[in-house]
Amino acid sequence: MAVQTTRTAQEMEEYCARLRAAGLDAPWSRPGPLIPPKPTATQPRHWRWRDIEPLLRESSEFLSPHRGAERRVLRLHNPGVPERTVAHSLVLAIQYLLPGEVAPAHRHSPTAIRFMLHGEGAFTTVDGQKCAMQAGDLVLTPGMAWHDHGNEGGAPVYWMDILDWQIVRFLENLTFEPYPDDQQTAVRAPGRDIYFPWSETYAALLRRAEQAPDPYDDVLLEYLDPASSSSLRPTVACYLQMIRPGVRTRAHRETSCAVYRVVRGKGATTVDDQTFEWEPGDFFVIPPRARHAHANAGAEPAVLFTAQDVPLLRLLRLYQMEPAD
Ligand SMILES: [Fe+2]
Ligand SMILES: [Fe+2]
Repeated sequence: MAVQTTRTAQEMEEYCARLRAAGLDAPWSRPGPLIPPKPTATQPRHWRWRDIEPLLRESSEFLSPHRGAERRVLRLHNPGVPERTVAHSLVLAIQYLLPGEVAPAHRHSPTAIRFMLHGEGAFTTVDGQKCAMQAGDLVLTPGMAWHDHGNEGGAPVYWMDILDWQIVRFLENLTFEPYPDDQQTAVRAPGRDIYFPWSETYAALLRRAEQAPDPYDDVLLEYLDPASSSSLRPTVACYLQMIRPGVRTRAHRETSCAVYRVVRGKGATTVDDQTFEWEPGDFFVIPPRARHAHANAGAEPAVLFTAQDVPLLRLLRLYQMEPAD
């Protein structure tokens, strides 16, 4: 930017030094636009389950969950995000517990959403509500709810954790507190506001499939808070999605970010100039404003679980979707 001035460059430098000393800044004293564009840190990325699984199993040889380490998790690391999380706004981790292990009780300001992936006997206790976790069950741990996990089965279990940790961190409100004991006492059955069994969600997805499809997402079902009918959290929404055999969706762009786990079936998602051919267990991430479309060329329906920061974008009136065919 050419700065119009009646002063010399040296006088300008001295003026800027006086500004700094006064805790002030003149953005026009530097070249470039007033609001420079910020490149998206989150990159399109596909993680294959066949690469993750052996590394996940091996992790038990390095660490037992205990006070201090707290959780045996592997986080999905997006190469563009300095904090080594799946996306700029969301954290996605896979948590692994051997038979008899307990992940000690604690609480923190970020919300966690668990989606059970594999094994029998896993549970999460949330504020005294013990939730048995079968494959496909969703358990919500709202920010500042006490929670511990355990494996009462005879074989390893694992699930995925989605957290709004990055958003809470950006707002400089991260807090963490250990519970006095390793485990809470279970005092009541889980409420319907925190526990979403697979059998009910999948049945609802099949009913949704009988209605008119969505041109961009085919069959999309959002998990809703039963009391308010709003998204699970103001920061993050979760969905179960079906791409039916032979369907190729229209392409679109959204200002929000989406992380996906393939629950069953095979298919492909094109994100900008890349195509991710996914299989059961795979994960992928779609950054804000990336052009994306899904396809299922197979004979079986594909089912995806996805978490997205749509509610926060809506609250900020920043959510936009546009066709991108
Ligand atoms: Fe936690
Ligand atoms: Fe989308």
